[in-house]
Amino acid sequence: MKIKSALAYSHTLLQSVVQAGDVVVDATVGNGHDTEFLANLVGPSGRVYGFDVQQLAIDNTTARLKNSNLLSRVRLFHQGHEQIEQVLAKDVQIKGAMFNLGYLPGGDHQMITNGATTIKAIKACLTRLTPSGIIGIVLYYGHPGGLTEKNAVMKFANQLPQKQFTVLQYQFINQVNEPPILLAIQKR
Ligand SMILES: C[S@@+](CC[C@H](N)C(=O)[O-])C[C@H]1O[C@@H](n2cnc3c(N)ncnc32)[C@H](O)[C@@H]1O
Repeated sequence: MKIKSALAYSHTLLQSVVQAGDVVVDATVGNGHDTEFLANLVGPSGRVYGFDVQQLAIDNTTARLKNSNLLSRVRLFHQGHEQIEQVLAKDVQIKGAMFNLGYLPGGDHQMITNGATTIKAIKACLTRLTPSGIIGIVLYYGHPGGLTEKNAVMKFANQLPQKQFTVLQYQFINQVNEPPILLAIQKR
């Protein structure tokens, strides 16, 4: 057994709670790897709501989902995740959400997620999260702007009330080049 990477462990946690028929959010669809993973978890009767600010990300994710025959389970929005509160109907409850922060691999490295909008989106997901539901947040902070976002998100997560949420930080501490950090927030 090898200890899992931050991203792989976020998938393990989500896989442990998300079931067929559930509704989940992919807050940063990028190239669609996480969206595809989530679409497999929710099954044909579930739904994934995916967001990204870049048309390239929406196109790449659409192509990936078409290829794996999963597109019908997913609604993609070419909008920032800070719009989640407005885009999702008020009565939509979610079992999980995935935030894979930073820039689009193979895309424009200037188009990065940022603390204020990320936190706004996390808050929107927390208000819709069902008990035992999990939000996985993979934080990369080796790129310009990444450290500021990491610090803001960590500060926010640190202050979440213990009676309502369990918050996990998962990170390798002896690796070079700022290995990503996973934050997982579970609603109690
Ligand atoms: C690390 S990539 C995501 C990787 C992706 N989950 C995958 O599986 O390939 C981060 C993505 O966040 C997107 N992004 C940046 N700001 C955003 C925002 N405000 N709302 C939604 N997505 C955003 C970027 O365009 C980029 O595609």
